[in-house]
Amino acid sequence: MARGRLIVFEGAEGVGKSTQLRRLTTWLESGGRVVHALREPGGTPLGDEIRRLLLDPASDVAPRAEALLFMASRAQLVETLVRPALAAGHVVLLDRFFLSTYAYQGAGRGLPEREVMEANAVATSGLVPDLTLLLALPVAEGLARAAKRGERDRMERNADDFHHRVAAAFATFATAAWQARHPECGPIETVDAAGAEADVFARIRALVEARLA
Ligand code: TMP
Repeated sequence: MARGRLIVFEGAEGVGKSTQLRRLTTWLESGGRVVHALREPGGTPLGDEIRRLLLDPASDVAPRAEALLFMASRAQLVETLVRPALAAGHVVLLDRFFLSTYAYQGAGRGLPEREVMEANAVATSGLVPDLTLLLALPVAEGLARAAKRGERDRMERNADDFHHRVAAAFATFATAAWQARHPECGPIETVDAAGAEADVFARIRALVEARLA
């Protein structure tokens, strides 16, 4: 049986993660792999309910409560779906994971990195991704793309300087120095998310082939 693999898609708003995740799902399935495409927050009935609360513009959520709600969704997903799928030798593709918490609740909201790291460890019981694909695009371009999707959710409604802090944090995560301090995140590869969808996917496919052969 093939070893299970966990591949995470990360990045700021509007970088095209979900589209590329669907493409990778189709491509891996055509190669005979069993693929579970999941997203955070959400992916389970409990997680979907938490997602609704977190993204509802009418919700009033303090930064630490926000972080813990993301973590609760993560804990449920990891325990009930991700670990069993990996144990069965399947591929799990995850739309967002730890890095989003470092970026949004750490850099964006200002929570101390150590607290985010410790909460993540509780939520995942030490699960490390095999590969994280960090999709990168200029912030303004990503926000413009996200705006086209319709009404903005509670996270998207944050001020521009919040989104700039998030994007700057994601750029830091790509550096060797940051990764050396964060072995819990596993290997992170930056993908240029500019240009045609097919071209971005070609970059992703090359990285996945190289890493997971
Ligand atoms: P999205 O998956 O549709 O992009 O929406 C999820 C939103 O939640 C997005 O704005 C990023 C944010 N988020 C966090 O702030 N912290 C997290 O840990 C995760 C997983 C997502």
